[in-house]
Amino acid sequence: MCGIIGYIGDKNCSDILLQGLSKLEYRGYDSAGIAILNNNNITRLKTEGKLQGLYAKVYLEKPEGTIGIGHTRWATHGAPTTINAHPHSAGKFTIIHNGIIENYKELKSYLQKEGAIFSTETDSEIIAHLLDLNSKNLTFEEAVVKTISKLEGAFAVLVLFEEAEKIVAFKQHSPMVIGVGSGEMFVASDIPALLEYTKRFIFMNDGELAILEKNSFNLYDFSLNSKEYKIETLNISPLMAEKGNYKHFMLKEIFEQNRSISDTFRGRVLNGGEKLDLDTSELNDFFKNSLKRVIITACGTSWHAGLVGKYLIEHLARVPVEVDYASEYRYRSPIVDENSLIIAISQSGETADTLFSIKMAKEMGAKVLSICNVFQSSIPRSSDAVLYTYAGPEIGVASTKAFTTQLAVIIMLAIHLKECKTGELDVKLLKELLSIPEKIDGILQNSELILELAQKYHHFRDFLFLGRGLNFPIALEGALKLKEISYIHAEGYPSGEMKHGPIALVDEDMPTIIMATKNNQYEKVLSNLQEIRARSGKVIAIATEGNNSIKEFCDDIFFVPESSALLEPFFTVIPLQLFAYYVADIKGTDVDQPRNLAKCVTVE
Ligand code: F6R
Repeated sequence: MCGIIGYIGDKNCSDILLQGLSKLEYRGYDSAGIAILNNNNITRLKTEGKLQGLYAKVYLEKPEGTIGIGHTRWATHGAPTTINAHPHSAGKFTIIHNGIIENYKELKSYLQKEGAIFSTETDSEIIAHLLDLNSKNLTFEEAVVKTISKLEGAFAVLVLFEEAEKIVAFKQHSPMVIGVGSGEMFVASDIPALLEYTKRFIFMNDGELAILEKNSFNLYDFSLNSKEYKIETLNISPLMAEKGNYKHFMLKEIFEQNRSISDTFRGRVLNGGEKLDLDTSELNDFFKNSLKRVIITACGTSWHAGLVGKYLIEHLARVPVEVDYASEYRYRSPIVDENSLIIAISQSGETADTLFSIKMAKEMGAKVLSICNVFQSSIPRSSDAVLYTYAGPEIGVASTKAFTTQLAVIIMLAIHLKECKTGELDVKLLKELLSIPEKIDGILQNSELILELAQKYHHFRDFLFLGRGLNFPIALEGALKLKEISYIHAEGYPSGEMKHGPIALVDEDMPTIIMATKNNQYEKVLSNLQEIRARSGKVIAIATEGNNSIKEFCDDIFFVPESSALLEPFFTVIPLQLFAYYVADIKGTDVDQPRNLAKCVTVE
């Protein structure tokens, strides 16, 4: 949940650290700090609040040095104050940490008995004190190894030592990637922090320790045995992680969805939709001969994509599907066997609950397929196969383009599973997939209309979102988007469930946004809509283009293009994303970094 960066080379590193932290701020943004090593002396600068505070401090103090580490925090243990901000020091050691040290209380009392004096309330500070204590009679590297052996939990840690011109990095259950430069080395939580400097990366595995020097680096296990590594070259442009002319990343990411969906279909939907080539060769025999059940685990928006997946896979491939919150799935002794497929959906690939859920299911004999946006992150690396979503870096905390690319992968997977089970490729549907990006573009060109709706409705304090079938998960997603960035209370419900409780909430102060597209449930939705109006509720309908007759039943309307019912979620979700964005912007909230949230949830 925090972002970390390290640099060693010839350049004065404070700018590189700050620049990297600005790309990692989506991971945590309640406080930040850097430490720079220069002539056997480590300078630390820390501030609470957003990164701007740290910029000002660095500008005033101008720390010199070409070896440094930086951290942006999302508080878990200890309030987001300057004192609790990283880096933390003890003796000649300075560290930054992303993760949670689960046994920190025992370690802290042990260290206090040994004479350590703590200055923060964090779990992380114990790492610096352990290093200091363990360094008596040991080399720097040996002290690190001894320290790691005491730690339980999740950690990606960078260490500076006053007497060595190197950075030691080690990780367990928290992400860390090394960037290989020429005469300089980088290390960070995620590649957007390094894209400006290198395209060559080593994705570290759990249980690995790296020693970075200016012109070299070595990789070891936690017993200091050398390990082989692979350098991967990624052709991702730094511009993909820039805001461009957009006011917020979220808006840019909403407007990128035609491109990101095209990229996700590219190389998979072939010959104009006559052929589907899904890179799941490892699992195809299993799909054909053994698959009896699918269990989708995910969190938040990715869980909503999973709910859409249930409808699509059951409808097309006729395989039963359960969808579980990963945090619940882990702790409810689920029934899994070797005929089960677990599909883990995650933008970041690092969500702790999702990661642990697949590890558990794998141990119970299930096959694991992940759908993920971040290359080589922990979830794909713990899976039997992965289908990447090519959304590009998603920086806004509220997920938008990652969601629709997850839908793109899921619909291809459902078509593929059907082909594996029946030998029949649904060419008609496959061809229709290729029309999705252009139709989304059409919706985005009408974004002004959504802005007008946001201007009209932003002052309401409660909203109801309703949808049936494939549009029920979209109602949940619309409500989640609105809550998380505008802090307005919103509830998502299946339209048919409304009369079983939520209708009691409806009055002139609680508008309803209802998915009322022309599919086989339309007449029922129309009845729900009239029930709301009969109780003085205001209704905004998301309806199918050309259905002018719906106008008499609602206060406002936004049209989405006609499509096969199976593809409607791609279109109905776009106006809801835009509505949440414009309402939040009108209210002046911090759209890209809403309060209390972080982009990547690596804690349980
Ligand atoms: C909502 C949002 C979160 C994430 C959730 C899972 O806009 O972004 O609900 O969807 O934290 O994250 P990933 O997909 O990275 O596993």
